[in-house]
Amino acid sequence: MDKKIALLQDKINQANLGGGQARIDSQHKKGKLTARERIHFLMDEGSFEEIGMMVTHRSTDFGMEREKYLGDGVITGYGTINGRLTYVFSQDFTVFGGSLSETHAEKICKLMDMAMKNGAPLIGLNDSGGARIQEGVVSLGGYADIFYKNVQASGVIPQLSAIMGPCAGGAVYSPAITDFILMVENTSYMFVTGPNVVKTVTHEEVTSEELGGANTHATKSGVTHFACANEIDAITHVKKLLSYMPQNCEEMAEQLPYESTDESRPELNTFMPQNASQPYDIREIISVVVDTESFLEVHEAFAENIVVGFARLAGRSIGIVANQPAYLAGVLDSNSSTKAARFVRFCDCFNIPLLVFEDVPGFLPGTDQEWNGIITNGAKLLYAFSEATVPRITVITRKAYGGAYDVMNSKHIGADMNYAWPSAEIAVMGAKGAAEIIFKREITTAENPQEKWLEKEKLYSDIFANPYRAAERGFVDEVIEPAQTRIKLIKAFKMLENKVVNNPRKKHGNIPL
Ligand code: HXC
Repeated sequence: MDKKIALLQDKINQANLGGGQARIDSQHKKGKLTARERIHFLMDEGSFEEIGMMVTHRSTDFGMEREKYLGDGVITGYGTINGRLTYVFSQDFTVFGGSLSETHAEKICKLMDMAMKNGAPLIGLNDSGGARIQEGVVSLGGYADIFYKNVQASGVIPQLSAIMGPCAGGAVYSPAITDFILMVENTSYMFVTGPNVVKTVTHEEVTSEELGGANTHATKSGVTHFACANEIDAITHVKKLLSYMPQNCEEMAEQLPYESTDESRPELNTFMPQNASQPYDIREIISVVVDTESFLEVHEAFAENIVVGFARLAGRSIGIVANQPAYLAGVLDSNSSTKAARFVRFCDCFNIPLLVFEDVPGFLPGTDQEWNGIITNGAKLLYAFSEATVPRITVITRKAYGGAYDVMNSKHIGADMNYAWPSAEIAVMGAKGAAEIIFKREITTAENPQEKWLEKEKLYSDIFANPYRAAERGFVDEVIEPAQTRIKLIKAFKMLENKVVNNPRKKHGNIPL
């Protein structure tokens, strides 16, 4: 038995070395952790249990039968993160560049099946040269098997992808299907075709970082939700993100212990600028309303005219969608609509109640927006809110104009509670524009058109630039003192905690994509 145990230990040691010490050193030289080190930092100490450590590839072409590494380039297993069961796979770049073979894919698929059956999140730590070139089509098949399971798991368990190295070609589509992507600045990249192919096809000269680095995807494409300073930062973000989520779609996110103190926030009564066109940062309101330092912004640098993220209110996990007056006056456009729609759908999948702060002058006009499909993209947000069955509350802080009023979680599309601050202006459009259209004849024929215009603007503004017309109709449930916002929200979310909505039976809806 001793000999047999020694053989086992020898194999474990071999597996732990991945592609060998020289390649581990080379990984470190690039400023990257190894696949095992990443798992070590991610999971609770001593909790990780590996599955499939002895798996090797079955390839025989190009002399591959002589080059085998235990584990075949991916470490798979389960453990806990902050005490909660989590499944993780971590690609090992020291073994054939972390490339995906048939067996590498099988290991990931097996893990995904377990995660789905047992209802726990799946984390992918990606660091791979893509399809194992020596294996040809079986590797492509392996990718497709993963994509298929990503889709099966979507909305069942949270799926998070941290990109810690290369992720190119069709390989990008697994992370793209998962719920959140995190990238590491300077050492990770994602693209469908790399700089060389780009140069050949379009004659553009671009570096990997410019084409598909973390900052590119965090600001320009929105592909990644987080651009992290380094790998430890990415791992910290993964853990924090998970803390707001339940284990699966049948559960609620953990509610943290909370002791009620003075919940009024008097500073909000003096927060709003005098002039209604003056910008302010909606994050300041969010941070005053939610539990101290609980706000985790998602997609921070992309479509900044809308702010989305997770927070806690009296210990309860919530998702926040807020127009951002500090950026493009908080207008809705294609990117901000798509960004918010995806976030709303995530929260709805996983029973996370939604809180909306509304200050929106409308949709962004112009050829750029129209030609890029603002109609379809705006409809995504409308659709996402309308189909969401989680508790949904809106606070209108200032403007709620035009179609954007309807879209931003109005009562009409299923919001449960709709509050307005006294500074709210709920109308088809701003008073200036409205007066110009409906009093055009009177203004142009007046002795002093400018004076007339101002007079009519004031008239329109007196009637509509307030929350009371909407409150009279019940479109706003209550006009509240800003200082009372937190108290009202805590009570209302508590009141809504057992909300049940049964949408009409269907196979699935057809969200405008
Ligand atoms: C097999 C691979 C590999 C791959 C890298 N390696 N990629 N082995 N299949 N796809 C091996 C290398 O041979 C090398 O082995 C080791 O991994 C490290 O690679 P290096 O090139 O030395 O590392 P580096 O300089 O850091 O460059 C990393 C890289 C580069 C940019 C990822 O290796 C590369 O361009 N690889 C090919 C990428 C690619 O075209 N993949 C296929 C994409 S198509 P040794 O023995 O020297 O350590 C695809 C389709 C998916 O993925 C479709 C899904 C639908």
